[in-house]
Amino acid sequence: MQINSTINDELKTFDVAPNETLLHALRANGYFGVKHGCENGECGACAVLIDGVPMNSCVMLAAQAEGKQITTIESLGHIAEQGWKHTDGLHLIQQAFVDVGALQCGYCTPAMILAAKALLEQTLAPTEDQVRDALSGVLCRCTGYVKPVQAVLLAAERIRGGAEEPRGKGGQAIPITLPTDYPTTELSNYPTSNLQLLTSTLPTMVVAPAVPETRVVGKPEKKVDAVKLVQGKPAFTDDIELRGMLYAKVLHSPVAHARIKHIDASKARTLEGVHAVLTFKDIPRVVYSTAGQSDPIPGPLDSFSLDSKVRFVGDRVAFVAAESEEIAERALELIEVEYKELPAIIDPRDAMKAGAPIIHDEPEYVNFANVADPSKNIAAHIDIELGSVAEGFKQADHIFEDEYIVSKVQQTHIEPHVVITYWDEDDRLVIRTSTQVPFHARRILAPVLGLPPKRIRVIKPRIGGGFGGKQEVLIEDIAAHLTIATGRPVRFEYTREEEFIAARSRHPMRIRVKTGVTKEGKIVANEMDALSDTGAYGCHALTVTGNTGQKCMNLYNAPNIKFHAHVVYTNTPPSGAYRGYGVPQGFFPLEVQIEKIARTLGFDPIEFRLKNAVKAGDELPMSKAWNEGRPPHPETIETCGLGECVARGAQMIGWKRNLESPISNLYDQRLEIRDWRLVEGKPHLRRGQGVACVMQGTGIPYLDMGGASIKINDDGSFNLLVGATDLGTGSDTVLAQLAAEILGCPIDDIIVYSSDTDFTPFDKGAYASSTTYISGGAVAKAAEQVAGQIRQVAARMLNDRRPQTADGERSAVGGQPSAVAPDQIVLRDRCAFAPDGRFATLQEVALESLHHKNQQQIMAVASYVSSKSPPPFAAQYAQVLVDTETGQITVEKLVMAVDSGVIVNPATASGQIEGGMTQALGYAVCEEMLYDARGDSVIRQLGDYKIFAADEMPELQTIFVETFEPSHPFGLKAVAEIPLDGVAPAVANAVYDAVGIWMREIPMTPERVWRVMRGK
Ligand code: FES
Ligand code: FES
Repeated sequence: MQINSTINDELKTFDVAPNETLLHALRANGYFGVKHGCENGECGACAVLIDGVPMNSCVMLAAQAEGKQITTIESLGHIAEQGWKHTDGLHLIQQAFVDVGALQCGYCTPAMILAAKALLEQTLAPTEDQVRDALSGVLCRCTGYVKPVQAVLLAAERIRGGAEEPRGKGGQAIPITLPTDYPTTELSNYPTSNLQLLTSTLPTMVVAPAVPETRVVGKPEKKVDAVKLVQGKPAFTDDIELRGMLYAKVLHSPVAHARIKHIDASKARTLEGVHAVLTFKDIPRVVYSTAGQSDPIPGPLDSFSLDSKVRFVGDRVAFVAAESEEIAERALELIEVEYKELPAIIDPRDAMKAGAPIIHDEPEYVNFANVADPSKNIAAHIDIELGSVAEGFKQADHIFEDEYIVSKVQQTHIEPHVVITYWDEDDRLVIRTSTQVPFHARRILAPVLGLPPKRIRVIKPRIGGGFGGKQEVLIEDIAAHLTIATGRPVRFEYTREEEFIAARSRHPMRIRVKTGVTKEGKIVANEMDALSDTGAYGCHALTVTGNTGQKCMNLYNAPNIKFHAHVVYTNTPPSGAYRGYGVPQGFFPLEVQIEKIARTLGFDPIEFRLKNAVKAGDELPMSKAWNEGRPPHPETIETCGLGECVARGAQMIGWKRNLESPISNLYDQRLEIRDWRLVEGKPHLRRGQGVACVMQGTGIPYLDMGGASIKINDDGSFNLLVGATDLGTGSDTVLAQLAAEILGCPIDDIIVYSSDTDFTPFDKGAYASSTTYISGGAVAKAAEQVAGQIRQVAARMLNDRRPQTADGERSAVGGQPSAVAPDQIVLRDRCAFAPDGRFATLQEVALESLHHKNQQQIMAVASYVSSKSPPPFAAQYAQVLVDTETGQITVEKLVMAVDSGVIVNPATASGQIEGGMTQALGYAVCEEMLYDARGDSVIRQLGDYKIFAADEMPELQTIFVETFEPSHPFGLKAVAEIPLDGVAPAVANAVYDAVGIWMREIPMTPERVWRVMRGK
């Protein structure tokens, strides 16, 4: 049928099928700014304005748009300078999103901007609550909504005409609200606005006098990809159409554990429009691991593209490629499969029992370092002991022991896994995919596809969030097998349901912690024992669970430490990498245990922590014993701002226990505290505060490698090519800042490209909080080499420009400038300066070297591997209200004070903390993947799996305590994962503070809290 609609003020007529959604019709007609993350009306990424009202286009038939006015992001502003043509520039809302840094991956951004537009057409003076309400229909997994809310308020202010221009060197206005007692001397460099918001980003606070003066590093520069993302440009994997594209679908197993007795795809193959159906009989049987890790992968090889055995509900049975998704789905129904069901293991406690069914009995199974025992369903085991905990417990005056349970949760990036594959004109297989690990993907896929790596090219466009979920080589093989089978381009994307039943998740664990303490408050023995559930495949099994012990047990410097873990197979969807990578699982039990010890023995919880925590100069205890399954490298802590973090965080949240130290049960009798705990008119509510201290690592020492190349262009700009993958974190921006700092130019002169295995240098990819540190090290090295070449050319130019004497010599006599040596040249302000002030512009240097004399391409490539993994530290605070009748926890406020070394970009870094705390909040109170007794997923849609919306958020505050990490040229440490670590224990400790119960299981749902309160 034909419909007529006005799209972005243009009358359009297009053909649609009667059952076609508006989302599909818009994207099919090139409106790629309309994104999608669920296709059942729950994520809001597909929102467009219909007659000025935000509507989810995925739940609306295209036919319903007949005669309507449709507004997509493409109708808003565009970049102003377009050669000889100029536009009015970005819309003020788009500009505010750019200025405030209100986007990370940018996948939800078009819908957010449209929602904001609809609001500001109703009112130009919205309250923060109104903004949050307007944005609440668009889920964002990256930002924590802090900056999007600020951006909308700023846009409103600018549209009203009341806004001052953005201030600060980065041109960014960051509205902040300050407590009255915050030391204002530390705020001098921070732009402020009159906006009063619940949410704020606090200034960087420098505690290391060694932080050098910088011009670009340390400034809240705008994200290099922000302008394209606020315009909804076709930047993501799925934003292209290829001629002859086929659409793939996967038949998933309906049973948890079975052998395929019989499979017949003949009917499916004869369906018109079907081009290929593949079963395990049709493709080579190659064992591999889907974990996107360096070679050799530190885990078992236990997966096949397709196998004759299925190991969880959702496992792969067959692949189909057809002319459309609908035909492919019909073909799935025609595949006949007979299963011989086997007993299944759903509860990990059953996995190692005698007589348990064996999940991996395939002869091709490859063990890594002998840590697996598939005959006992063990994917990995870890045993580390420093000193002797048995001896330590003998010395202890008090021993505490408890078991804790942490749940299985999902990354829930709004852009699903998506890939497009095709043969290029040289018969090389191109894989355009939303991946965090393009180079690992090429290496891992080559044997699976029967191609050498040189015949595979992996292109990573923008990524709509990953959080570890895209550190998996999860679906690329499906499309690639089908392209090999058909010779045609193939697109495959997980539906949201497939994300829940067949993607990866965070390992759920049962963790027992036993701690021995002297009466003086010294921890003398600390033991952790974990049972970790890797699901049906052992991807990341060893390394995630190893991190649980290694990173967490590093924090308290006990003389006797033990970590023991079994990572077991079950017939449930596989676990894998999820931001934090094992560490959030460990800090929940550890930090609740520490709080309990302090409270029980009458120590101030903060003093008790700091007394036992590691400090600068200490050896990281676990570094002597473990390194992701590879040889350990003892490491000393160079910088630790934990004490300052604790102090600043306490000050910011208004830490009540500071009023009386050490704590006593009497202090609640003080009137002001009692009043603070209560809510007027709501006697069933109790308020409490909690704290947790946490640490992480920064990359994997002696293993993680990043590469970068930089070359100069005629105008003095630079191309920076990196293999690192910006999945929304802002890494392209901070890498450009590092290059700009060294090359003496603004960030605008650095053109960043990431990543393509044909063109960019190798990088291990985005994981382990390593990009800024490792890939940034490579960028700094390459930039230093390029700067050296520029100095050589500039010195020669400046010397050549001196007047000549009669015999042709250039002389310093007679007041002429003396010869300048290259190492005297300073690069700044797009120029190369001699000490006497003479200069050549970078453009002149580029033209000289490319066209005029001693021609050479000024360029360099460098790589960086670290011998260290310097730990960032943080103090996480939470303030909660507990409903004593229902068990409902309302988190009112989260404050995180972080030592991540030098902060390259406070806007992107604080965005990481805000978004990370929000994910961690879901882990603490509501997110959980649940299965029935057959191993079938109870959670299949976003609506079943609660992630926070803009109008449900607590107040978020971030403080940076800067130290200068000497192992890195810019003194930086990681920031991306640490905000995942402390929220759950801080909330649990706040619940104890409020109502006196210890929560030992997350998420702390109302039912669980109610049961513990009632002693059930
Ligand atoms: S609400 Fe339409 S794709 Fe999610
Ligand atoms: S920026 Fe919102 S989903 Fe990534």
